[in-house]
Amino acid sequence: MAPLRVLELYSGIGGMHQALKESCPWAEVVAAVDVNTLANQVYKHNFPGTPLWAKTIEGITLQEFERLSFDMVLMSPPCQPFTRTGLQGDVSDPRTKSFLHFLRLLPRLQKLPTYLLLENVKGFESSAARQELLQTLAACGFDYQEFLLSPTCLGIPNSRLRYFLLARRHQDPFPFRAPAQILTRFPDQNLEDFLKDEAAGRVGEVSSSLSPEEKSPVPNAGPDGSSDSSSLKGPFLFKLETAEEMERKQSQDTDCSVQMLGDFLEEEYEEHSQYFLPPKSLLRYAFLLDIVKPSCRRSTCFTKGYGHYVEGTGSVLQTAVDVQLESVFKHIEELPEEEKLRKLSTLKLRYFTPREIANLHGFPLDFGFPEQVTVRQRYRLLGNSLNVHLVARLISILLG
Ligand SMILES: C[S@@+](CC[C@H](N)C(=O)[O-])C[C@H]1O[C@@H](n2cnc3c(N)ncnc32)[C@H](O)[C@@H]1O
Repeated sequence: MAPLRVLELYSGIGGMHQALKESCPWAEVVAAVDVNTLANQVYKHNFPGTPLWAKTIEGITLQEFERLSFDMVLMSPPCQPFTRTGLQGDVSDPRTKSFLHFLRLLPRLQKLPTYLLLENVKGFESSAARQELLQTLAACGFDYQEFLLSPTCLGIPNSRLRYFLLARRHQDPFPFRAPAQILTRFPDQNLEDFLKDEAAGRVGEVSSSLSPEEKSPVPNAGPDGSSDSSSLKGPFLFKLETAEEMERKQSQDTDCSVQMLGDFLEEEYEEHSQYFLPPKSLLRYAFLLDIVKPSCRRSTCFTKGYGHYVEGTGSVLQTAVDVQLESVFKHIEELPEEEKLRKLSTLKLRYFTPREIANLHGFPLDFGFPEQVTVRQRYRLLGNSLNVHLVARLISILLG
């Protein structure tokens, strides 16, 4: 059988390629395209045999696309134009130009691809760019379905709510097709239940696989659901958390359908000392941190600023597991700085390592970074990437 020819646009470190390997090992990435030099180094390191085009997508001509004769497109266009708190420049943001270029060329291809998968942030679903995409797909005869999914629906203890679109031509219509709705769980998780839900008009509802934090974003949520705590409304019971939030966290931590964070962690070793939060960050941000233990079954979205900016960029790990968080924070604001720091230090808080984030994202252990890529750069690249298992599952659904 001839391999499925795949074009990977905005390839970054190759999350899509990794997902393709997992779900469709007979496929071949005929070209990966990205302008970012550093991301390209990581991509080459892991997929040395794949033709990597280090150029802008808007610089690719119809003839060049034509020559690739691709059957499938996987793409994660830049998300900044669509983030809820960004300027939402949408189609007028220069970063959308390359995507619009691709959409303009697609109907002109002599041989259209059969499959397309697009990933973006929550927010894309209400953009004009999405309208253009849907119009182009309709004009090219694609059937499509949209999703809003987080790795938590696969039992992975990490929230990363993302928009996905699956589209295909000349295939049976998707059995779960609900074009006017955005599905919030995998249809193949339990097709029977799903069909029952559909009959009851519940398809498209936000499912229980999403945490409340994902269902209704907190006020002033950052690009990835991060929050500006100054606008949160009390009364706060502990840290800056309301009783409702604490309850939610507790119920997440007892949801046995989700794995424990401990399954994704490296063994504690000396080099981890570089990941401990510095005193300045502890004193300044302690109240805003999302603190988790290895036994927890949740973590917040790791964004590209993780390890550099503290607030709202991802959870931090409490490695002194026997210390009671409540006892550390009790009346802490009344203490002098030195004492405050002493108490906070007993928690032994550290950042997740890049390897641990890669584990949560589903990258296999043989996926690595070239040595010269710094820790901060790794966080940045991983923050832009995606959950491999989730996309692998979507590719399987796409291929039917
Ligand atoms: C959201 S990230 C994609 C991440 C990727 N899926 C991964 O797993 O790492 C978007 C990528 O698009 C690239 N990019 C942005 N604008 C581009 C353009 N005009 N042409 C080519 N690549 C572009 C960025 O360098 C970035 O790596």
